[in-house]
Amino acid sequence: MNIPTNFIFMLFGFFWLISPVIAVKKSYIVLLGSHSHGLEVSAVDLQRAVDSHHKLLGSFLGSSGKAKDAIFYSYKNHINGFAAILEEEEATKLAKHPEVAAVLPNKAKELHTTHSWESMHLEKNDVIPSSSPWRKARFGEDVIIANLDSGVWPESKSFGEQGIVGGVPSRWKGGCMDKTPDGVPCNRKLIGAKYFNQGALAYLKSQNLMEELPLIVNSTRDYKGHGSHTLSTAGGSYVSNVSVFGSGIGTAKGGSPKARVAAYKVCWPLPNIGGCFDADVAEAFDHAIHDGVDVLSLSIGSPPAEYYDDIIAIGSFHALKKGIPVVCSAGNSGPSMATASNIAPWILTVGASTLDREFQAPIELGNGQRFTGSSLSNPLAGRKLYPLITGAQAKATTAFAQDSILCKPETLDHSKVKGKILVCLRGGSSRIDKGMQALLAGAVGMILCNDRLSGFEIMADLHVLPTSHINYNDGQAVFSYIYSTKNPMGYLIPPSSKVNTKPSPTMAAFSSRGPNIVSPEIIKPDVTAPGVNIIAAFSGAVSPTGEPFDNRAVPYITMSGTSMSCPHVSGIVGLLKALHPEWSPAAIKSAIMTSARVSDNTMNLMLDGGSPIFAPATPFVYGSGHIRPTGAIDPGLVYDLSPNDYLEFLCASGYTEKNLRVFTDGNFKCPVSGSILNFNYPSIGVQNLTGSVTVSRRLKNVGMPGVYRVRVQQPEGVKVSVKPNVLKFEKIGEEKGFELTMTGAVAEGQIGYGTLIWTDDKHFVRSPIVVSSSFF
Ligand SMILES: *[C@@H]1O[C@H](CO)[C@@H](O)[C@H](O)[C@H]1NC(C)=O
Ligand SMILES: *[C@@H]1O[C@H](CO)[C@@H](O)[C@H](O)[C@H]1NC(C)=O
Ligand SMILES: *[C@@H]1O[C@H](CO)[C@@H](O)[C@H](O)[C@H]1NC(C)=O
Repeated sequence: MNIPTNFIFMLFGFFWLISPVIAVKKSYIVLLGSHSHGLEVSAVDLQRAVDSHHKLLGSFLGSSGKAKDAIFYSYKNHINGFAAILEEEEATKLAKHPEVAAVLPNKAKELHTTHSWESMHLEKNDVIPSSSPWRKARFGEDVIIANLDSGVWPESKSFGEQGIVGGVPSRWKGGCMDKTPDGVPCNRKLIGAKYFNQGALAYLKSQNLMEELPLIVNSTRDYKGHGSHTLSTAGGSYVSNVSVFGSGIGTAKGGSPKARVAAYKVCWPLPNIGGCFDADVAEAFDHAIHDGVDVLSLSIGSPPAEYYDDIIAIGSFHALKKGIPVVCSAGNSGPSMATASNIAPWILTVGASTLDREFQAPIELGNGQRFTGSSLSNPLAGRKLYPLITGAQAKATTAFAQDSILCKPETLDHSKVKGKILVCLRGGSSRIDKGMQALLAGAVGMILCNDRLSGFEIMADLHVLPTSHINYNDGQAVFSYIYSTKNPMGYLIPPSSKVNTKPSPTMAAFSSRGPNIVSPEIIKPDVTAPGVNIIAAFSGAVSPTGEPFDNRAVPYITMSGTSMSCPHVSGIVGLLKALHPEWSPAAIKSAIMTSARVSDNTMNLMLDGGSPIFAPATPFVYGSGHIRPTGAIDPGLVYDLSPNDYLEFLCASGYTEKNLRVFTDGNFKCPVSGSILNFNYPSIGVQNLTGSVTVSRRLKNVGMPGVYRVRVQQPEGVKVSVKPNVLKFEKIGEEKGFELTMTGAVAEGQIGYGTLIWTDDKHFVRSPIVVSSSFF
């Protein structure tokens, strides 16, 4: 308040004067394409790669020695390039060197969780419907699933060896690098754990954020719970009797419960910056591919960017070339349109939807009235009624009644609250903090009542004391009971989960949406999976609310976000890898997309929680639909693609060979002609339809011989014809092409939605069709 403004100007003036003298150094990622190492990479090859990086940068900086000092990563296995501290001018010059494909700044990405204490009632825990895909795919036995995330909590039972038969697969080259006494040890389940922090350190040093440096430790431990949660969702072992404060009791397990798992830690506790640096992400990709992972799961991202500027797109392409499918979260920037990230066509991009379970926490009043609330908290001690008191009745003499009724800090008379259930009105402070105030005042429990504005929206929060959150109408009844009764009493019935709630699934409001801002003809996200209130493993290093006053530790917790839906899909990809090890990443992706469903458990189209009128969702929200593992393991037909097909698609989209250098070894040439319409993607998007457009596709038989007939649901105003309309497959692996012609026009500014299905009456190979007059 009293800082003289001219003092501030003085400070700025001082820096202004000296700043031109200091050459600003920043960290950059210099990409040279891919290595052309053979299958067996020798130590000599790797050293040669490192030396070539020193030599290249040395030619700019004056000596190999200077280059060695500047470089903090040499990407030497698959991705060819290095990360280094450079002056801006040096980076600009380097970008023009003929061997250099791109020079990218070392930027931060963030984790894709919303701690959706906001995001309500519907709950989901174990996702996978039928046990049969598990049995057929041997529970993902020996498939290696890895994530790039915030590390891992090795003591979690989800990373225990129960159910794991046999030693670590002999092809595995990874391991646990964190050998300190408090480090992350490997076992036969958790077979890899590595941390990558040079990019984070380089960034902090270049920004002179020295006070943050101690946050970047040499440890693979999960500082946040996010990495343990996502890894256990994808490939966690069976753990029986798991619950969150007694709710949702069940067996926790990943999508591939017998998979081996590996954690590549790339995120650090830098909440205001983002925390997951591109230079570290690139190094983690290079290691994971080399180590021999089978599936990569990334629940991190940044706003969408051109693929050659996007380290996740680049790393994923290098993984694709080695046959490794990469699954990514779409982001939590919904319900705004065009927000989806991780949208490269070779990435399996996942949105988030609800499951069919609520955490109910009913209350009973002394007069026998009962109300259904929601909560995730410990049950009240003892089966007896407790006195009720409202925040207003418990007002401290120094407080205002309008603050006490909201149970704000320092507004309650502790002597009045002690031993009672405190009734608080919503608003003015956080829901969790009201519980904290109740606890501090000595309450045994809390009833949190909605105000008029919050109406019917009640949430399963992780309260610090036994709590029930009730809606506005019920809250009014509680208040009138208390104010009309001499000794009002109440009881909190222990929280329990209710399954089979309807409608479900519905699309989460926060789930990021298409269209794809880089390739509008590629519909993104690709699929949706459960991502609201998902129960999975947590870290012992943090409390469930992350609030400073909360010092509880929980082994399992609910979290929400596309961060949580992504590893569900990664787990299913693990099953497909176990069952069909010879399938390409594109075939696996096609199987998951074409078997997805778009209806909910009321047999209507899935609804959009981000729509103010709860309207049906569209392919720009759910892509091809909600994953259906039973269908994915036996899709009948797939739309397959090779790495070169993706590159040719990029050529047809206008990328130059120079743009493509970040993905290739430099020998790739764009074909003279090519059309984005013939790119064999498992969904069909057409922009600016006027007159008539024909797209071609190829289907590969991966099931029994069979005759498939076409069924089409036409977008409004568009006539669709398919030639031929019958495809006869006589053997496995056989490929047949077809052409789909659309004639007509969608009204100006409108989008038309249709469906293409190939069926032999047993399999339904479904693709959404999206036709626009113009996307923007
Ligand atoms: C972390 O590891 C790096 C590289 O191995 C080392 O230089 C550094 O001193 C270590 N930091 C700490 C705090 O031990
Ligand atoms: C399940 O867990 C609860 C509390 O976490 C414990 O009280 C109970 O004994 C456990 N049941 C079994 C069968 O392990
Ligand atoms: C579609 O129209 C938009 C805007 O009019 C234009 O920017 C875009 O390039 C067009 N796309 C195609 C595939 O013609």
